[in-house]
Amino acid sequence: MSARDPIRETILALRPNAIGEVSRSGLGEKDLIPLWFGETDLVTPAFIREAAKSALDDGQTFYAFPGGTVRLREAIQAWTDRWYGVTPEIERIWVPGSAMLCVVTSLQCCVETGDEVVVVGPMWPNIGQACLAVGGKPIYVRLEDEGESWRLDLSKLEAAIGPRTKAIFIGSPGNPTGWVISDAEIRSVLDIARRRDVAVIADEVYSVMYYAGKRAPSFLDHASADDNVFVVNSFSKAWAMTGWRIGWVVTPRRLANAMAQLSVGNNTGTTVFAQAGAVAALEHGDAFVAEMVGRCRAGRDIVRDFVNTTNRVNWVEPQGAFYAYLHVDGLSDSLGFAKDLVKNARVGVAPGAAFACGDSKDESYLRLCFAQDPARLQTALERLSQALNR
Ligand SMILES: Cc1ncc(COP(=O)(O)O)c(C=O)c1O
Repeated sequence: MSARDPIRETILALRPNAIGEVSRSGLGEKDLIPLWFGETDLVTPAFIREAAKSALDDGQTFYAFPGGTVRLREAIQAWTDRWYGVTPEIERIWVPGSAMLCVVTSLQCCVETGDEVVVVGPMWPNIGQACLAVGGKPIYVRLEDEGESWRLDLSKLEAAIGPRTKAIFIGSPGNPTGWVISDAEIRSVLDIARRRDVAVIADEVYSVMYYAGKRAPSFLDHASADDNVFVVNSFSKAWAMTGWRIGWVVTPRRLANAMAQLSVGNNTGTTVFAQAGAVAALEHGDAFVAEMVGRCRAGRDIVRDFVNTTNRVNWVEPQGAFYAYLHVDGLSDSLGFAKDLVKNARVGVAPGAAFACGDSKDESYLRLCFAQDPARLQTALERLSQALNR
């Protein structure tokens, strides 16, 4: 073999994250209660499935515009107007595939090999991996744990920006923390981004899964079409469509041509009949979203009772999204503990190690998704409680 390896070292070094490692050991097993992934146990509602089925029966099986059908982009525009009071131009609305692909595409717009992306953590591990995959390097700025709340230290955020930084990545409501950025913080981040010539990738896939109002504060509320701001959203969470692989991104105005081409190169758009389902979700899905958020709120109440009555466990109560990021006193090997839970307690949780960022290894944390049937969630927490007291 020649000395020159054509495969990038960074790619060869990619490893399954710790959530994958735990779930592999029990995925699909009947008596196990899985709370490890970011999804509800509800099937996509029938009216959305029916819309996709009729599109299939109607023969919608051909290539379509790679950036998303006009019908869907118009529906996203109308939905954004209704939920946010903001109406982005159609040329800024793109549906290249899943929200994950929206993140990757946004990164592709900003990052050249060796560039840095400042990522507000703790963060879902796939984001750091996506930065690496496009040739960039994630630099983490961890939210401060203030006991009752998480806090973004804006001076730390700005200090992390170096000569090679191209973008700030912020997920709010956050996975795994449930932290929600405030309007004032959004304005400050925009001010930093404008002064320091960096883009913002705002991951708002949990935007309507918010407990203190209709939807969380958004970068759409404050950024102009000329700011270098990408706002990513998804059908996966609020409409229970994780398997459909469809989301959208609102981009800076000047990227209209480039986004169409990137979309061609990445996947030539997303599944056409899935887009018909997505239109139905936006146009007829408000009642379902309300039901989903209500179910998550009930799940959060159940976890709060568990936290209040279980020794060793505390948390910052999530303000949005559907995760509990539990801190366990005395836990020093989250992966080992999570694997043991699968084997002996029949509960699946995500180990904190998956969300390590910078110096913080998060080994004393466990993340669980509470968008679940209340009785099953209760049973899972009883099993977890017994395991903690063993
Ligand atoms: C913060 C965050 N961004 C993006 C995604 C990806 O969403 P999608 O399923 O649409 O790719 C997830 C999924 O868990 C997420 O938690």
